[in-house]
Amino acid sequence: MKYIQGQYIVKEKSAIAREIYSFTIACPEVAAVAAPGQFVHIRAKGYTLRRPISICGIDKEKGTIRIVFEIRGEGTGEIAKLNQGDLIDMLAPLGHGFTVNNNFKKVVLIGGGIGTPPMLPLAKAYGEKAVAISGFRNACAVILQDDLRKTGAETILCTDDGSAGIHGFVTQPFRELAEKGSIDAVYACGPMPMLKGIAAICKENNIFCEISLEERMACGIGACLGCACRTKRNNEEYFAHVCKDGPVFNAEEVLW
Ligand code: FES
Repeated sequence: MKYIQGQYIVKEKSAIAREIYSFTIACPEVAAVAAPGQFVHIRAKGYTLRRPISICGIDKEKGTIRIVFEIRGEGTGEIAKLNQGDLIDMLAPLGHGFTVNNNFKKVVLIGGGIGTPPMLPLAKAYGEKAVAISGFRNACAVILQDDLRKTGAETILCTDDGSAGIHGFVTQPFRELAEKGSIDAVYACGPMPMLKGIAAICKENNIFCEISLEERMACGIGACLGCACRTKRNNEEYFAHVCKDGPVFNAEEVLW
């Protein structure tokens, strides 16, 4: 795994929903090698443990990456205090990302809440071949729909309370699409029950499916065993490292 640790300049910062921030970071050597599905590990000022945040955008020409994250505690709260022009301490790019296959003709990208950001680089890679289904608690929590549309992807929005888009979970419109057929691949990131439901629909309909798992991480580079997850390889149970073997796994590998 090739990764770089450094201090990089925050080029742009914006709040895109309540307690959700978007940072664009100037880091040409990271942008040059980063791929969809990988993550960055950020050290917040005053904290030893880094916080893993998925990559939401990669611009190799401008030499930038974008991250979108939610304040979930004091560490991410500290990161959110950084402003344009500040330095951010980052270890990146980390992990095993999504499989992007130019031969795929139709793919479905499914993001649940803060699992939506890693879908954006995939939408950029697949453009009009992608249908992006996103689910949020309510209209106030909705993020990245314009960004997804700008890639050429078709977007389907769901909210748990019906305050925007379809009233219900992402699995409802996804099941309809899956049963119509002709989907080459599904990529998903979000809460475990959502991922489990999507994996089951893919299995029933024989669709290739990759999911990105979220796990607490300490080292982020496969050295501490802090992010173990039960998987199966060659029909044998195997404790994989989410940080190194994942965060992206084939859905068939995961022992739900
Ligand atoms: Fe240390 Fe994965 S976070 S092994």
